[in-house]
Amino acid sequence: MSKAVHTFTLFILGFLMVLLFFVRCDFGQKNELVPAEPIAKAYDGMAFAGSESCKSCHKTIYENHVNTPHYQTSHKVYKDSMYGDFTDKNTLKLNDSIHFIMTAEDVLYQSGFKDGTLIQKEPFDVVIGSGTKGQTFLYWKDSKLYQLPVSYLVGKDKWIHSPGYANDRIHFNRAVVPNCLECHATYAKNHLPMDFNSNSYIKNEIIWGVDCESCHGPALKHVNAHRLDPELKKAKQISNIASLTRQQQLDACAKCHSGLRKPLNMPFTFRTGDKLSSFRAPNYRPLDTTSIDVHGNQYGLLTASECFKKSEALNCTTCHNTHKNERRAIAQFSEKCISCHNAIESHTTKLNDQMKTNCIDCHMPSLTTSAITFNGLDSIKIRTHKIGIYEDISKQINQFLEQ
Ligand code: HEC
Ligand code: HEC
Ligand code: HEC
Ligand code: HEC
Ligand code: HEC
Ligand code: HEC
Ligand code: HEC
Repeated sequence: MSKAVHTFTLFILGFLMVLLFFVRCDFGQKNELVPAEPIAKAYDGMAFAGSESCKSCHKTIYENHVNTPHYQTSHKVYKDSMYGDFTDKNTLKLNDSIHFIMTAEDVLYQSGFKDGTLIQKEPFDVVIGSGTKGQTFLYWKDSKLYQLPVSYLVGKDKWIHSPGYANDRIHFNRAVVPNCLECHATYAKNHLPMDFNSNSYIKNEIIWGVDCESCHGPALKHVNAHRLDPELKKAKQISNIASLTRQQQLDACAKCHSGLRKPLNMPFTFRTGDKLSSFRAPNYRPLDTTSIDVHGNQYGLLTASECFKKSEALNCTTCHNTHKNERRAIAQFSEKCISCHNAIESHTTKLNDQMKTNCIDCHMPSLTTSAITFNGLDSIKIRTHKIGIYEDISKQINQFLEQ
């Protein structure tokens, strides 16, 4: 064999080997099974994976979930997340002496003035509230989290003094304690976990929004069990909520939807499946529904309804698919009523077509809450979960629909 041919053969062989190496590398990377990293660790050591990590296997649920008020109920501030105006209608005047101005500079700021003098100026760092009804804002002072005095009311399109703030002074010092974040975030690790009043947090171990792991628990083990063994078809290392008892399922929602209760146990330690009564002072006495405020106590109101008391299975998920944004899906909710009730036989008067697809506005009307008031000037309406007969409201709706 001539030397030239020999060199050529070697060259080709070399080329093929290099080619093979790259091809193999590419295949190798595709098959490489990499575990996900924790984004935060719960107090008991259980690790959170974050909802981004669920996306690859639960795509539809993930994509629907990010559009829900749950997911959007808290997050870091970014410009388009603000509904309020920072240029024209950016002043809130409380009285002749005190006013606030909201400005967009390098970041967004809120400044409080007394008799024309700047008293305090702090940045908008965190938003609480999806903006369905309103937004409240928080700011950081080192590791400590505080509420800003001015909030935003979406329906009225205006800045307001935050609920519960007295009008006679400028307060930038209301601490944001774990209890508040427990209903509006998935996890916020505190420097003093046993202290219900501590507002000092470990910033990179906060998971904003009511995310997957708020209801399903820290799920890194589940994620990795399936990432490392893609052939697994049956769920590993995660519990099945639908197979829990009715009270366990109700408790999973009641943790945040049964109003303010006295804490008995460390914040962020309740897990779906646990008994809420050992975590929050129970409120299971037969409820006098006239004294329950509609704000945030869907549990108390629903369990006081005849529909709940006289049926075995009714629970929050009978009507709600929490993975989806179902706001104003009135006809869809009405289907749930019709699955248990014969609407024609139930009424003395005839229901027209519109009424047949809207059981909600007459039997679960939106009522004014007295828990959130803004100096008595503005009010918020919340859908009552005491399903019942509201004669006056029904009459008004009847007249409206008859027209
Ligand atoms: C690598 C794939 C994979 C990832 C990533 C993953 N899962 Fe799963 N998950 C599965 C499989 C497979 C099942 C079983 C089949 C099913 O129910 O879809 C499952 C089932 C579930 C179930 C139902 C359990 C039951 O028994 O009803 C829940 C809840 C769940 N996953 C939550 C999550 C959450 C939350 C995340 C993100 C933190 C996540 N999963 C990430 C693969 C994955
Ligand atoms: C507000 C609470 C809540 C949040 C947030 C939540 N889930 Fe669920 N999830 C539930 C409940 C309740 C069920 C059981 C529903 C039923 O009764 O069938 C469930 C069931 C599931 C199931 C099994 C049944 C199914 O629909 O396939 C999977 C998988 C799942 N969730 C994944 C997720 C993922 C992924 C996220 C985040 C992107 C998430 N969930 C966010 C409450 C929640
Ligand atoms: C970690 C606390 C938390 C848990 C657990 C929780 N929620 Fe919520 N939920 C909230 C908060 C906070 C809001 C208000 C979000 C907003 O608008 O900012 C909300 C809003 C809602 C809404 C209104 C959505 C809309 O369209 O405006 C529904 C419905 C709801 N939750 C149902 C449930 C059900 C059902 C469960 C149990 C499976 C549940 N939630 C569990 C905190 C929670
Ligand atoms: C016990 C649980 C719970 C606690 C504690 C709680 N909230 Fe809420 N919050 C809710 C629920 C549930 C809603 C949804 C409306 C409803 O059901 O009344 C809500 C609604 C809101 C909204 C309106 C959101 C919207 O756009 O619809 C804001 C703003 C808000 N809360 C701020 C706060 C702040 C700030 C704190 C703490 C200082 C706090 N909340 C404490 C449960 C809670
Ligand atoms: C799981 C089945 C179930 C579902 C779903 C359900 N109900 Fe009921 N409801 C009942 C039962 C059972 C009663 C008690 C009836 C009786 O005693 O004859 C009841 C009672 C009522 C009453 C009489 C209340 C009173 O105080 O006397 C009204 C009105 C009513 N339901 C309307 C509705 C509407 C509207 C919906 C949908 C938003 C609904 N129900 C959903 C089972 C259900
Ligand atoms: C019989 C059906 C039914 C059941 C059961 C039910 N809901 Fe609802 N819920 C509704 C309807 C209808 C609305 C109004 C939806 C709308 O207007 O967009 C609603 C609205 C809500 C809202 C938003 C309130 C507002 O005015 O912003 C929350 C929060 C909520 N439900 C939580 C729960 C929780 C928690 C449970 C269990 C304790 C529960 N729901 C059980 C039918 C139901
Ligand atoms: C225009 C208002 C209105 C609408 C819409 C409406 N209802 Fe009613 N409903 C009433 C009133 C008022 C009563 C009391 C009986 C009567 O006057 O007919 C009642 C009675 C009932 C009862 C009987 C309660 C008892 O005494 O046992 C049930 C069940 C019921 N409604 C279910 C429904 C369902 C399901 C739908 C939707 C398909 C619906 N209603 C739509 C106003 C309404």
